[in-house]
Amino acid sequence: MVERIAIIGAGPSGMAQLRAFEAARESGAEIPEIVCFEKQADWGGQWNYSWRTGIDQHGEPVHSSMYRNLWSNGPKEALEFADYSFDQHFGKPISSYPPRAVLWDYIAGRVEASDVRRFVRFNTIVRWTQETADGFTVASENLADGETTTEHFDRIIVASGHFSFPNVPDFEGLENFTGEVMHAHDFRGAERLAGKRVLMIGASYSAEDIGMQAHKMGAELVTLSYRSHAMGFDWPAGVEELPLAVGFDGSTVTFRDGSVREVDAVVLCTGYLHKYPFLPDSLALSSPNNLYPDGLYKGTVWQGNPNLFYVGAQDQWFTFNMFDAQAWFVRDVILGRIALPDAEDRAADIRHWLAEYAALPDHDSEVVYQANYIRDLIERTDYPMFDLDEVVRIFQSWQHDKQVDIARYRDKTYPSVMTGTMAAVHHTPWLEEMDDSIERYLTPVGTASDSRDDAIDVGTRERGVSAAARVTRPTSRR
Ligand SMILES: Cc1cc2nc3c(=O)[nH]c(=O)nc-3n(C[C@H](O)[C@H](O)[C@H](O)COP(=O)(O)OP(=O)(O)OC[C@H]3O[C@@H](n4cnc5c(N)ncnc54)[C@H](O)[C@@H]3O)c2cc1C
Ligand SMILES: NC(=O)c1ccc[n+]([C@@H]2O[C@H](COP(=O)([O-])OP(=O)(O)OC[C@H]3O[C@@H](n4cnc5c(N)ncnc54)[C@H](OP(=O)(O)O)[C@@H]3O)[C@@H](O)[C@H]2O)c1
Repeated sequence: MVERIAIIGAGPSGMAQLRAFEAARESGAEIPEIVCFEKQADWGGQWNYSWRTGIDQHGEPVHSSMYRNLWSNGPKEALEFADYSFDQHFGKPISSYPPRAVLWDYIAGRVEASDVRRFVRFNTIVRWTQETADGFTVASENLADGETTTEHFDRIIVASGHFSFPNVPDFEGLENFTGEVMHAHDFRGAERLAGKRVLMIGASYSAEDIGMQAHKMGAELVTLSYRSHAMGFDWPAGVEELPLAVGFDGSTVTFRDGSVREVDAVVLCTGYLHKYPFLPDSLALSSPNNLYPDGLYKGTVWQGNPNLFYVGAQDQWFTFNMFDAQAWFVRDVILGRIALPDAEDRAADIRHWLAEYAALPDHDSEVVYQANYIRDLIERTDYPMFDLDEVVRIFQSWQHDKQVDIARYRDKTYPSVMTGTMAAVHHTPWLEEMDDSIERYLTPVGTASDSRDDAIDVGTRERGVSAAARVTRPTSRR
């Protein structure tokens, strides 16, 4: 009997899983029956931007933590797919740090080109999952008509992301704060922070980037407040970094070092929780946001039940190509191309990776660790190996660029590890670019968009066809 596989989520991880199975099918393999459940109306996960916050039109928690003006915070050369290059998609060099809509177009372009949309049940949320003697039952709800379905699956792949349920700590006196308080999950744009004194709590990517967005949009003062370590960048005038906020009263905030500031708005950039409300505790990953969540053999196979898999559960230096490496590995376990060791050997392998992780001294070594993890996966599959050492060097240069100028690092360019193509310098520096649209991004400045030879027809997105897939005809590298 043909196996039935459920993929929960059609974000970049779920899309990688769909692409992995399709690549096997294209090369002649028999693949299982696949159902990908996606609670939103379209795929792309975090990259499928929504203006909504809180509860969506179906009464469900909004998934997206993205904001309108988000640009890639790492060089695109570090996340490029090994089987679908940026050159192939856009047909011309683009810059190293594209805005959100451009990255969405790229990830969607690959899967649209391989016609895997047919596997996805959109607007369908997985409500509950249960282990049975011969697999699992999955209960789902079609959010459009309320119809619920319970069906059998032999294996489940969890690809529901882990940057959607905000971690919202309490702070002394916050109930008396008279300004606006939100979590980064609900932040959609910094325009309304113009002229305001804004406090970011947290010392990671959200605090850094939302702080810089607020600065870019004209905030009067941005104060970043750290618990463990300052980010320590050479912040521009109007941005400062202080120890943790320890008390709020009216509009006054007191910090651990005794500093005091008057503040109009607070953004809690305090990260996210691993939360899987559709899984019983025996199957649900419980971990801080880190590079090797415990309980996953090769970072993907659930130790408690090896018919359950997770893709994309790690903290992420690498993103899209790491999801690919995981998806190809999971696929090959399911197709029987990779034999799983017994539980004891799997546990020993997990311990090995956890011990290495615990010994990492700094960020540079974390990047090398994740590169080694990806190499370990790719070597077991037919996913095209790429120069992971070069990607590590790109990440190191990126960190250096940020140290040199946190407001200008996105203007730097890198060569593609996959094709060697040098990225283009974007027509407008990030700090001055106020239009983040794909139309503006792909239009040479000073050229009428309707008469360009190299213009890309972004209107095709609405018709469900990747814009760039129209201008270049993608062909699989394998
Ligand atoms: C604010 C922000 C900015 C980021 N910026 C970058 C960046 O610049 N570069 C980068 O490489 N990465 C960035 N990331 C990391 C980002 O997490 C990954 O790029 C990527 O989106 C992760 O893909 P995923 O598929 O694992 O999860 P997600 O993108 O979160 O997708 C998960 C999908 O699962 C669906 N889902 C969840 N629960 C259910 C359910 N019960 N039933 C059905 N469907 C369900 C969701 O609707 C969603 O579509 C950013 C993340 C955030 C939060
Ligand atoms: N493209 C972009 O520009 C962009 C922008 C935003 C986010 N992102 C992505 O989004 C993902 C999540 O990033 P994130 O920054 O939201 O989360 P994160 O990396 O998990 O960082 C969480 C931060 O919150 C702090 N924190 C947690 N609890 C706290 C508390 N009780 N008090 C004070 N501080 C607390 C942590 O401090 P400690 O160090 O003390 O633990 C840490 O600095 C990442 O993948 C990132 O790349 C990308």
